[in-house]
Amino acid sequence: RPGQNHHPAGPSTPPSSPPTQSLSIQRQLYERDFPLYKQPVEVGHFSLDSERRFFNDSRQLRYYVEPEKSCPNFDLRDGYRGRFVKRDDRVKEKLDHILRWILANRSKLQSKDTAASSSPCALGVDIVTWRGHLTKLLTTPYETREGWLLAVTRMGGTLYISEVETEAARRDRENRTERHEEMMYWGYKFEQYTCADDAQSLPDPGGVVNTNEAFCTVVQTRLAEHRLLFSGEVDCRDKDPKAPSPPANYIEMKTSLEISTPKQRSNFHRFKLLKWWAQSFLPGVPRIVAGFRDHDGVVVSVETYHISKISQLIKNETNCWKPTVCMNFCCEFLSFVKSVVTEDNPRVVHLFSWDPHRDVTYSIHRDSQYSFLPDWYIREMTS
Ligand code: A3P
Ligand code: MG
Ligand code: MG
Repeated sequence: RPGQNHHPAGPSTPPSSPPTQSLSIQRQLYERDFPLYKQPVEVGHFSLDSERRFFNDSRQLRYYVEPEKSCPNFDLRDGYRGRFVKRDDRVKEKLDHILRWILANRSKLQSKDTAASSSPCALGVDIVTWRGHLTKLLTTPYETREGWLLAVTRMGGTLYISEVETEAARRDRENRTERHEEMMYWGYKFEQYTCADDAQSLPDPGGVVNTNEAFCTVVQTRLAEHRLLFSGEVDCRDKDPKAPSPPANYIEMKTSLEISTPKQRSNFHRFKLLKWWAQSFLPGVPRIVAGFRDHDGVVVSVETYHISKISQLIKNETNCWKPTVCMNFCCEFLSFVKSVVTEDNPRVVHLFSWDPHRDVTYSIHRDSQYSFLPDWYIREMTS
């Protein structure tokens, strides 16, 4: 049935009927009740060191230290030439770190309801992916500039979703201006001014910023009928030992240009807060600490945003985004993927493709450049 469209609000497709060919992103289709989204539970974490090596522990987790003054005057340009080691973003790691974590922690995943399930699935989850890929899905109904490509493979009943860089994204990456390159450093420098290596010490702004280093949480949750397992980088945690357990003690750090006009405030609410909300809501990170900077990269104020209060904050904005549209679209996309990707085969990739103002479509690839599950993972999971 070529050209047929997947209707989000329609009755569910019987298992035997052929999958539909595309998914609409029109916002009004997704304006309904907020779908069930279970409180995300941290099932583990891992660290990547200064050489991007994997460790099944929290050695890279840092502790938030509140700035002494509300106007701290942090110079985000300091150290860009001389004390900066940049991760090589030409290297595509795909899902490898998450897969390594899964192999090291398989016993923690086999859940009780899997054993009882009529269609047993090796991992007990439907979807494995990065938080960042889900963030892109959440913001898709409002995105007007950047499309995406998501490769999907079904193995052992679980769908693995891994991003593929678009041609446009590759061009942008290869043609960044020197100013843009430097500004990408500023966000990490802000983290260095506000985060310490342990609960007792102070931040060290004189040290090296190395963007290979990362601490990642692995969370499990459910979006309607979709059981999700995903990982996302966490900037730091509350240093109070009495703080709630993860992910409720995690803090996301952000920088943004200081707001000086009503137009800037409106744009901040309509565009930036959407991305900030989606990124932290997904793993259940409750707070964002934002450093507002001037054009020269000097932080002039610091403010805390509570994720649960962001939807209230934007309610007076005309033409603004809605959390329910984001979540319903993501849920519908996952249903679409499940209906399309039925062949359980690590060598098959369904490549889902979206460009602004278009529907989501897909193509099928067997033993291609798009295959992304490594042999060491397939071997371990199928033996
Ligand atoms: P800011 O967001 O404060 O500018 P994160 O906020 O997700 O922890 O990322 C840390 C920093 O990485 C960002 O800080 C930004 O400097 C850089 N960064 C993250 N995503 C990026 C992207 N898609 N393009 C360019 N820089 C990015
Ligand atoms: Mg981060
Ligand atoms: Mg951050």
